[in-house]
Amino acid sequence: MTDLPPALSDAIRRLADGLGRKGLAASAATMSEHYRQRGASRQVIGGAGDALAYALSRMPATYAAVSAVLDELQARAPGFTPETVLDAGAGPGTASWAVAEVFADALLTLMDHNREFLTLAEAISGDGGNARVELIENDLGRFELGRRFGLVTCAYALTELGDTALLAAAERLWRHCDGALLIVEPGRPRDYQRLLAMRRRLIELGGRVLAPCPHKAECPLIEPDWCHFSVRLSRTRDHMRMKGGTLGYEDEKFSYLVVARPGIGAPAAGRVIRRPEENKFSVSLAVCGPEGLESRVVMSRDKAAFKAAKKLEWGDAI
Ligand SMILES: C[S@@+](CC[C@H](N)C(=O)[O-])C[C@H]1O[C@@H](n2cnc3c(N)ncnc32)[C@H](O)[C@@H]1O
Repeated sequence: MTDLPPALSDAIRRLADGLGRKGLAASAATMSEHYRQRGASRQVIGGAGDALAYALSRMPATYAAVSAVLDELQARAPGFTPETVLDAGAGPGTASWAVAEVFADALLTLMDHNREFLTLAEAISGDGGNARVELIENDLGRFELGRRFGLVTCAYALTELGDTALLAAAERLWRHCDGALLIVEPGRPRDYQRLLAMRRRLIELGGRVLAPCPHKAECPLIEPDWCHFSVRLSRTRDHMRMKGGTLGYEDEKFSYLVVARPGIGAPAAGRVIRRPEENKFSVSLAVCGPEGLESRVVMSRDKAAFKAAKKLEWGDAI
């Protein structure tokens, strides 16, 4: 399980202590319904309490998803160490916190069009001791920063753009990137379809897909199937209160894309794209590879392969 770093959860908790949990929970419930209906953050994040409610209720999950994708970036490009990072559509700085865990020396630029989020990002970065941070209020559809960044992240933000603005925003992110671009979106069919459109465009622009795809051909999945992954995270008491649930964990579904400039990293040979099915005699794997989609069955009599296959999980590279 990937949980928020203690410095971050402490900073959020201290801020929440100053506001009533009841009001925050009400705000989180409204927000959750709004996101389910695919509404944009701006319509529900209008004050400091709303931004904090987001941090309590959604940040643990988006952090876990971004961390999983960063792990994949590191696995695909082990020597890649960006010095500068643009966190576009940063919200409270979720991706930046995850980036700081793996690239501790990177300078972080957080960009968002919502001042409430940036104010919260600043408050928690100060509290958490994360000082190498620049904040920019700007729009994903218009920003022009006049410089490029080693790593550009955009987590759960492009989903809030209309279809007509999407590809231009992806191109803009790519223009600001001279290393790797990491896009994370909710794991829903609609967002996967939109990721496919961005993937096509980024490949046309010279990008190399490092993950999740082990190839640059068209995605072999056929609708209504869609490529997505899942990460498990634990829920703190505050988190449970915001969610109104009793389970001590939740599973976050996400889709993603890691695209790099030529010369940086290489894709995996294959990827497990569904939860493996296992019994005493065999492990069945759905694998996406350069030749398309394959079902692989590893029998227990093939001891070494069986042992290795039992360790594979949904989303793993092979
Ligand atoms: C669901 S939140 C995700 C925040 C953060 N990246 C995370 O993963 O937790 C979506 C973020 O995208 C930002 N956003 C949406 N549309 C935007 C736009 N056109 N320009 C800049 N930011 C935008 C919102 O303000 C919000 O902070």
